[in-house]
Amino acid sequence: MNTSSFRLANRFVDVKSSPVRDILAVVGREDIISFAGGIPDAELFEAADFAAAFDAVLSQQAARALQYATTQGEPELRELLAARLSRQLPTTADQIQVTSGSQEGLFLAGMALVDPGDVVLVEQPTYLAAVQAFSLAGARLVSVPSDDHGVLPEALAAAIAEHAPKFVYLVPNFQNPTGRTMPASRREQVADILLRTRTPLLEDDPYGALRFDGEPVPPIASLPGMAAQTVLQNSASKIMAPGVRIGWLRAEGDILRALEIGKQAVGLQSAVTDQLAVAHYLANCDLDAHIARVTSAYRVRRDAMVDGLRAVLPAGAEVNRPEGGMFLWVRLGGAVDTAEALPRALAAGVAYVPGWPFYAAEPDHSTMRLSYVTNTPEVIAEGLARLARAFGW
Ligand SMILES: Cc1ncc(COP(=O)(O)O)c(C=O)c1O
Repeated sequence: MNTSSFRLANRFVDVKSSPVRDILAVVGREDIISFAGGIPDAELFEAADFAAAFDAVLSQQAARALQYATTQGEPELRELLAARLSRQLPTTADQIQVTSGSQEGLFLAGMALVDPGDVVLVEQPTYLAAVQAFSLAGARLVSVPSDDHGVLPEALAAAIAEHAPKFVYLVPNFQNPTGRTMPASRREQVADILLRTRTPLLEDDPYGALRFDGEPVPPIASLPGMAAQTVLQNSASKIMAPGVRIGWLRAEGDILRALEIGKQAVGLQSAVTDQLAVAHYLANCDLDAHIARVTSAYRVRRDAMVDGLRAVLPAGAEVNRPEGGMFLWVRLGGAVDTAEALPRALAAGVAYVPGWPFYAAEPDHSTMRLSYVTNTPEVIAEGLARLARAFGW
């Protein structure tokens, strides 16, 4: 019986806590090797550089760092971010909105663009917490059939014609959960369809800088005509540290103003201390060198996990070898249900995230997401041995 006098808004009735965060809550145990979260290895954080950055901010600019500030974000941070983004797409500081992590940007986009019942098109599978953010705004999520290269162009065109979506949400680089990347030719096809149908794009790119192999692929936002039709999101989380909770988005025109007004209502501003510390870090430290260090460690771990999995997976199972990012995707096939098997895996001392929650519709229950970034190759090998025992491979 509900003893509370609070009556939750309808939008909360069907929206569940993220299963990933629920799993993360139980895998904190010392004896569990977790492949579950996209948790950067804390050993790789530039702790001393951040200590120096926060120290400089608080010793030299305390009055400013501890004060209220503008909603759009600190000017020098936006300048530095615009300069960095301009490597891919010409960007000015006034086209940047700072967010408290790119997750906030997803929520703001939902709030700015979605009326209850509006359709948002997503990949199949897609980033779970984006589904959560858009659902809270009342969106109806429709997933577009996708292959190893992302959404299928013909299916995207058909879905746009059928649903007239408010926007399309894509993670073209090293997608969460699958690790897949959309090649340049597919991006061009997608851009053609979006331009022809005047369908806006929310391009979420927290992982793009973490490339281990191959050549970078330009963001869809940078293709001719797309910048004005795209909100492009980046984040400090995967390339610096998630705890600073700094993300940023690039947009043009009315949508930028709407996102800013949304952010006023959500939190007035992102923490000025964190913004100024990230600006100090960007101005005084070598982020590219840090990214090179992180990616070389992650490359070794990816190989350890992919090769280790290929050695134990049963016939018919598939695992990809992502060119960057944090995750890989396993499809066991057949009637295996990875959610049902999770308690056995936890009992064996290893955690992963079942694939089903990442599907807006028609989940493949035999899939799972594994992150290779948190653990060393030795720990990965032990975790895979436990996984093999739990599944009886
Ligand atoms: C695709 C994608 N978008 C957004 C986020 C949110 O990241 P943050 O809010 O830490 O920037 C994540 C985090 O895992 C993600 O995978």
